[in-house]
Amino acid sequence: MQSRFEQVSGSTGNGRGGTPQEVGQGTLRSVAKTKVAERTVEGAGFVVRRPFPTPGMDHFDPFLLLDHMGPVDHAPGEAQGAPDHPHRGFETVTYLLEGELEHEDSVGNAGRLSAGDVQWMTAGAGVIHSEMPSKRIREQGGRVHGLQLWVNLPKRDKLMAPRYQDVPSARIPVATSADGKAKVKVIAGEAFGAKAVIDTRTPIFYLHFSLQPGARVVQPAPADYNTFAYVLSGEALFGKDEVPGAESTTLMFQRDGDALSLRVPEDAKQGAEVLLIGGVPLREPVARYGPFVMNTRSEILQAFEDFQSGRFGVIR
Ligand code: CO
Repeated sequence: MQSRFEQVSGSTGNGRGGTPQEVGQGTLRSVAKTKVAERTVEGAGFVVRRPFPTPGMDHFDPFLLLDHMGPVDHAPGEAQGAPDHPHRGFETVTYLLEGELEHEDSVGNAGRLSAGDVQWMTAGAGVIHSEMPSKRIREQGGRVHGLQLWVNLPKRDKLMAPRYQDVPSARIPVATSADGKAKVKVIAGEAFGAKAVIDTRTPIFYLHFSLQPGARVVQPAPADYNTFAYVLSGEALFGKDEVPGAESTTLMFQRDGDALSLRVPEDAKQGAEVLLIGGVPLREPVARYGPFVMNTRSEILQAFEDFQSGRFGVIR
């Protein structure tokens, strides 16, 4: 299968990249819808964009939520985070782009994320944790910029023991296209022949592409995957019809093909940073309330009861 999807970037001969259909690397998916995430300011000036869920952009099974935090420059004593709060039934994936975060939880884990690091936390049966800018940033100020993706767990894993995969930036595979115009950081799944070190409960890819002008990528996306792109910066063209997406845009792909294309025109003034994320839908009922995501309403009530009676533990 791999040879069908030979991943390339760059010119196809006419200097402008040509149309993706000419390249013959599987059937390209088209873009079903796009939406620009709005910035909202929370607390003491913390800028958050929420690509989904929002009206018109519901969740993309198995993905429940994406938050884009910052970039924000905190003044000394100003930085805020998320103090102790519970999760059950899904995973939170934190990808820090700039700054430092500290986390601590009720199972006894504690650690720090620096720029480029990923924490893939499987809450499973439940944890209570805190996620805060580092003490240094809280005291002295500094920049924080990152992403948090919520990944749903299949029914069989919702009450599994909590699991952390803390992966420093240096351990995350990075691969470059043959022409050097596209670079990818492989957080989950596989791209340009590089395989992620993170283990996922269901098939998922999470790719961060850095594209220079003239870059063109065709990424395999098996027919049963739900897939979307989110533009962190710059502008790129997506899918069979080359739909443009600029900063803060979410593009949801149709399941009408088995490959995704993205391209930055040769004459673009700047490159683009793009997340490409996909996963096999769980197709199970979703009962969701705040930090709990289960299959039924009674399981949500049970989560509240367990949380309130201290069965998620405490942060010591
Ligand atoms: Co959390």
